Amino acid sequence: MKAIRGATTVAQDSAEEIKKCVKELLLEIKQRNSLVDEQIICIMFSNTSDLHSYYPAKAAREAGFISCALYSSLEPEIDGALNNCIRVMLLTETDDTPKHVYLNGAVNLRRDITKKLNIAIDGPAGSGKSSISKILAKKFGILYLDTGAMYRACALACVLGGIDCANGELVDKLLSGTEISVKYEEGKQKTLLNNVDVSDNIRTPEISMLASTVSAHECVRKKMVDLQRKIACENSCVLDGRDIGTNVLPSAEYKFFLTASPEVRALRRANENKDKGYVQNFDEVLKEIILRDEQDKTRKIAPLIKAADAIEVDTGDMSIDDVVNYIMMKIQGKI
Ligand code: DC
Repeated sequence: MKAIRGATTVAQDSAEEIKKCVKELLLEIKQRNSLVDEQIICIMFSNTSDLHSYYPAKAAREAGFISCALYSSLEPEIDGALNNCIRVMLLTETDDTPKHVYLNGAVNLRRDITKKLNIAIDGPAGSGKSSISKILAKKFGILYLDTGAMYRACALACVLGGIDCANGELVDKLLSGTEISVKYEEGKQKTLLNNVDVSDNIRTPEISMLASTVSAHECVRKKMVDLQRKIACENSCVLDGRDIGTNVLPSAEYKFFLTASPEVRALRRANENKDKGYVQNFDEVLKEIILRDEQDKTRKIAPLIKAADAIEVDTGDMSIDDVVNYIMMKIQGKI
């Protein structure tokens, strides 16, 4: 279920004007969110106290919204509030990211859900980026973009093509005929290699190391970063990676850099791998984590580094919930 918000102002307090603007607002919300009537559970209005001539809920019923519950209420008088304003919230049966609609100079009071929101979460392997980013995306009702998955798909393409990930020229040639893309199913990212879903195949320890190697090439980064920027430009999203705050979206308003000691991160990764059925002892994982950190931090292009304006969070002694709450608090404090 998703809540869609909207608002409009009316030129004057008349029944005709209220009916016209309510209809216009609801049809616009329906169209922008590709809704059919059956998906609308209820519509709740509030209006400023300078509008007396007509109930917005009645206007909605007359505009054809008859199969859902309707409700109107009056807003308290608040200094500085807009005049002649009608606000609405629709509860809908949809999983799509809501597109909120503001017409006729109405403004949104909830900047967090109406303004495009891009949250950059960077950090090394095992710092908690993906678990935390997934929860944040769910809480804000926006997409989660796992940028590491794209580099992993490049590495898998090399393995399948029999190409050495360290050889930039061969990788470039291979990638020019390779399509890497993402799609979302029930809010979950699927990573596609030439239109085949490889979301599970890219999670092996072998691909983790090769992704780090292949991601150092300029040709790879250019292709992946273009795609990441396109997705971030079209959607509100939480992006996790190594260079989101420094390179992909340097002007993102919310940037976090997660850290933890290599030992803590290796333990987390070893447990995750065990759950997935990849048996690796702790020392092996620790060695790989240290090697991968080194590769990611020392590569020439867009290395793993904290952006100057990112908030650093040491997740070593924090639970996932603690980190999520801390980040939410920082974001909401700024909104
Ligand atoms: O986050 P991950 O473990 O799935 O990332 C795999 C590798 O991809 C990582 O070691 C380095 C590379 N990567 C990158 O260079 N830039 C990103 N934004 C994300 C990942």
